[in-house]
Amino acid sequence: MESIMMQDDSVLSWNTAMLLYNSALKEMGTKIEILNDEFQHVHQYNPIEYVKTRLKSPESIVKKLKRYGYEDSIQNMIEYCNDIAGVRIVCSFTSDIYRLADMIGRQSDITVLSIKDYIKNPKPSGYKSYHMIVTIPIFLSDRMVDTKVEIQIRTIAMDFWASLEHKIYYKFEGHAPAYISHDLQECSKIVSELDEKMLMLNEAILKAKEEQEK
Ligand code: GTP
Ligand code: MG
Repeated sequence: MESIMMQDDSVLSWNTAMLLYNSALKEMGTKIEILNDEFQHVHQYNPIEYVKTRLKSPESIVKKLKRYGYEDSIQNMIEYCNDIAGVRIVCSFTSDIYRLADMIGRQSDITVLSIKDYIKNPKPSGYKSYHMIVTIPIFLSDRMVDTKVEIQIRTIAMDFWASLEHKIYYKFEGHAPAYISHDLQECSKIVSELDEKMLMLNEAILKAKEEQEK
């Protein structure tokens, strides 16, 4: 891949691009950690179970651009590949997902480019998760570059389903027999029921504790 001209006529090389995406992951990681700490401080509980970050491999970037019908240039990668820097936030309860998404979206240095709510509108596969594409400013020695990050927010149960579904589909190279797809959709429904029950249970516990403290 060659390097590209930025709007300000500077040249962005592959190495600089990757440095930016890696820095964006670090910045987002810190932001999320701060939100979790503050939440713990105010509400006495952690909404986040764990956070995973990953940088997309050059092979995966090229594969995706090909799939979309674009040439593999750095320009196209920056423009069309939104998930080079990826953050996955795994929460305890469904309600935590919307709280976190809202807190992230309201930060003044973050710009939300798009949102896909696969919890309200699950994918035909049964996949559920809340996706945000955001940009975050990265300050280099001589300039600032708004850098894209894909954030996926889901519960532990949704993450459990997505991980296993991914593994199963990988085994069948994306062409699983109909009965397996059907059973995975059924499992997705069970996951939703589980999340709903856990949320109700948590609300009941919080209420009981409040009554006790009165
Ligand atoms: P990609 O080209 O795959 O990135 O899709 P997209 O640009 O249309 O974005 P979308 O928000 O639909 O999905 C992005 C990511 O969500 C994927 O890379 C997966 O990590 C995850 N994802 C989406 N659909 C599924 C699914 O059916 N099963 C699993 N396990 N993960 C999914
Ligand atoms: Mg992706």
